[in-house]
This record gives sequence, structure tokens and C-alpha cells, in this order.
Amino acid sequence: MRQMALTTFVMPLGYHRNSWRRPGSRAEEVPGLDFLTDIARTAEAAKLDALFFGDIVHATATMRGDTMMNGFFEPMTTLAALAARTENIGLIGTLSTSMYEPYNAARLLASLDHLSGGRAGWNIVTSADGYRNFGIPAAPDPELRYRRAAEFVSVVRQLWDSWSDDAVVVDRASGAWLDTAKLRRIDFEGEFFQVEGPLNMPRSPQGRPVLVQAGSSGPGMALGTAVADAIYTAQPDYRQAVEFYASVKKMIADAGRNPDQVKVLPGIVPVVADTQAEADEIAAELSSFLDVEQGRTQIAGDLGVDLSDLELDEPVPVERFDGIGKLSSRQGIYRRKSVEQGLTLRELIFDRARSTGHQWIAGTPATIADRMQEWFETPACDGFNLNSPYNPDGFERICTKLVPELQSRGLFRSEYAGPTLRDQLGLPRPDVRF
Ligand SMILES: Cc1cc2nc3c(=O)[nH]c(=O)nc-3n(C[C@H](O)[C@H](O)[C@H](O)COP(=O)(O)O)c2cc1C
Repeated sequence: MRQMALTTFVMPLGYHRNSWRRPGSRAEEVPGLDFLTDIARTAEAAKLDALFFGDIVHATATMRGDTMMNGFFEPMTTLAALAARTENIGLIGTLSTSMYEPYNAARLLASLDHLSGGRAGWNIVTSADGYRNFGIPAAPDPELRYRRAAEFVSVVRQLWDSWSDDAVVVDRASGAWLDTAKLRRIDFEGEFFQVEGPLNMPRSPQGRPVLVQAGSSGPGMALGTAVADAIYTAQPDYRQAVEFYASVKKMIADAGRNPDQVKVLPGIVPVVADTQAEADEIAAELSSFLDVEQGRTQIAGDLGVDLSDLELDEPVPVERFDGIGKLSSRQGIYRRKSVEQGLTLRELIFDRARSTGHQWIAGTPATIADRMQEWFETPACDGFNLNSPYNPDGFERICTKLVPELQSRGLFRSEYAGPTLRDQLGLPRPDVRF
């Protein structure tokens, strides 16, 4: 029977903006490894497939008072620390193809895969902002960024395959630790990179760490469907999620790959309680922590337009969106909510604060599981990326109430399937290809 993949987007301060203000949030402990470890172990006790760490390489949103992004950690170092404190859970970290060199990225991820016994995953992003921290005056256009990303991923994969699996021989009699005939230079010469190779470490336990991609625009989908093992996406609307799923699966097949081996994982923000009344109460409490004017600044920042003159109880006029130029997929979600669904600016601010464009739901384990089951079986997805609305209590409820409900319905594993992240996701270990 087909089962869900479940990962969690780790944000120690909570996915819901300002939810850290809730008593019991442990907000004083961010950034800190002990709090993170508790989150990781809660996730592992629920047998989640993986922890997922996003990354943005600038403080622009932080300067607008937006604390939700990943708790300030650099993903690879953090996941390496968590590898030592967990046993089974997958460790997916974001590394930008616009800010790194493929050789560094290949080493970092292969190291994490070795250190964790085969639990590493890479969320491939191209970064929309932060370039001035790297001596680049402005963000290159998406088409160029994704061209670089495609070449980057290709180089990294060749480096991971530059050692045969049997290159390490450890022959005490002959004195050969390594059979150097089983290492290959890659001699890559491309538009963006020149890389000699081979990599300076043995092939990692998974052969290739799990590849994840998280952009839903045309070039983002082209990259994801060509290379990724899992695709993250923001899909607040059921009908559109079904369409997105069908078109992604078709693109995967068109790229000559097996659509069953690429998981489509939309985000969901579940507020879990024993009764609907309690769930609604928690949701209202979380909203009470918001500062509407701060929210206005943040949403204006996301859109890159001035909203300071707008009435809070009127929708954002369509011309504001039309002035942006080409919308990112997230900006497109705000536009639909505003223009098609008629949300006022105030409603949009609250909606963004709780969901950032993902699916949001407050309810009992049974009602939330009903929704997830419907999406999974229709199909609109192969599982979910769970965004915990507030921590640690909100995440504990997800892991001890919602996940067991999914397990009791046979929709999710009750035990880990094996030692590696590929095992959890049902993905084969790839042979050396290059
Ligand atoms: C669940 C999810 C997580 C993401 N995480 C990151 C991230 O950590 N860092 C980043 O730079 N972009 C991240 N993105 C943004 C995407 O990589 C992409 O840049 C964005 O969705 C805009 O591109 P698009 O128009 O192709 O969707 C994430 C997107 C989604 C849906």
C-alpha cells in the first residue's frame, strides 16, 4: 500500500509569525542546540522521514522583524550536530547553487551523509536575494540562476560518482588502503564551472544524498522534475494542488524518469487539538500575537511594493500586483487570495502570518487526517512537509496526536524502514553513473 512521506520544516520559533510570544515557547533558547535536539527527537519518536532546514543568506526579512526563518542556523553544521544526537531521521539541508561552488557543496553533503550513516538530503535552491553579501550587486534573473543550478547539480553528481563504491580496499597485507584506479577525474568544463575532480572522499552511504527542490515556477519545475527525489511546494488550494501534482508527474515521465520515485510534498500548517473549539481557541491566540503594521511591512517586502497607503479593510488593488512584473509562485498565491478570493489587506496579513502561502488547518487529529488523506489519495500529493505552527507544544501535538492518527489509518509507517533516508522514502541506492 502506498504510504505518505512526512518531513518537517524546522523553525524553532514557530511557523506562525510571532508565535514565540506564547508562554512556554523556549524562545530564549534560540539559537541553541538543546532545544533543536528536543525538536529532532520528538520528530524521530514519531518516525518522521526527515528534518528539513531552509536557509536564506541574508537578514532582510529579519530586519523587518520576521523571525520565522529557520532559527538562524546554517543548515550543514547544524545537521551534522543533530546527526550525532539522532539515530534514524533524515537530515535535509538547503544549500544555494548561487552562493556556493559545486566542489564545496559536494563535500559538505557527502560528509553529512557519511557522518549520519546515510541520512543526508539537499534542498536545492537558487536564492532570490542576498547577493550583495557575495559581491554580486543584484540577483541574476531566474532563468540564469536555474541554468547555473542545473550545471551545478550535474557537477556535484559527477563528483559524488568520482569514486567507485569498491575504491576503498583496506588491504593490510599489500598496504593499499585505496585502489586509486577506482577514482576518476571529472574534468568538467561548462558555462559556469571548471572542476577537475575527483572528490576528496569516498562515495557516501546513499551513493547520492537525497535531492530535494523547492521552486514552483517554470524553470524551478524543470530542474526539480529532471533531478529531484522530492519536490517541496506551497499549495493552499486543493484544485490547484491536484493540477500541480499531475503536471509535475507528467514532466517527470517526460524527462525519462519514474514518477513514483519523486515525492511531491506540499507544506501544511496543522493546529492540532482534542476538540475543534480548542483548536480554534489556539488559532485565535496565535493571531493575537501579531502586529498588523509589522505584517504590512513584511508583506510589502515579500511583494517588493509599497503598501503603506492602503486601507487595511480593502483588498490590495490588482494594479499593485501587475506592477511587480513576473510574480514568483508565492507572490502568485498572494495575488490569487487578494484578487480572486477578495481577502482584505488585513486578512492577507493574518493569512500570510499563519501560513506563508501553505495550506493551513485547525482541527482535531481526525479532521486534519481526513484532509490529508483526501489530498494523498486523490492524489494531490505523496505526503507533506509539516510546518509546526508553534513550538514546542504545537509540534508535540503534531507528533503525538496527528501522526499516530495517520499511522492507525495505515497512511504512514509506524517504524523506520531502514538506516538511510532513501530507505524511508523507498528510493533505491543509485549506481555510479559517470
Ligand atoms: C517549502 C519551501 C521551502 C523553501 N525553502 C527555501 C530556502 O530555504 N531558501 C531559499 O532560498 N528558498 C527557499 N524556497 C524558495 C524556492 O527555492 C524558490 O526560490 C521560490 O519558491 C521561488 O521560486 P519559484 O517561483 O520557482 O517558486 C522554498 C520554497 C518552498 C516551497
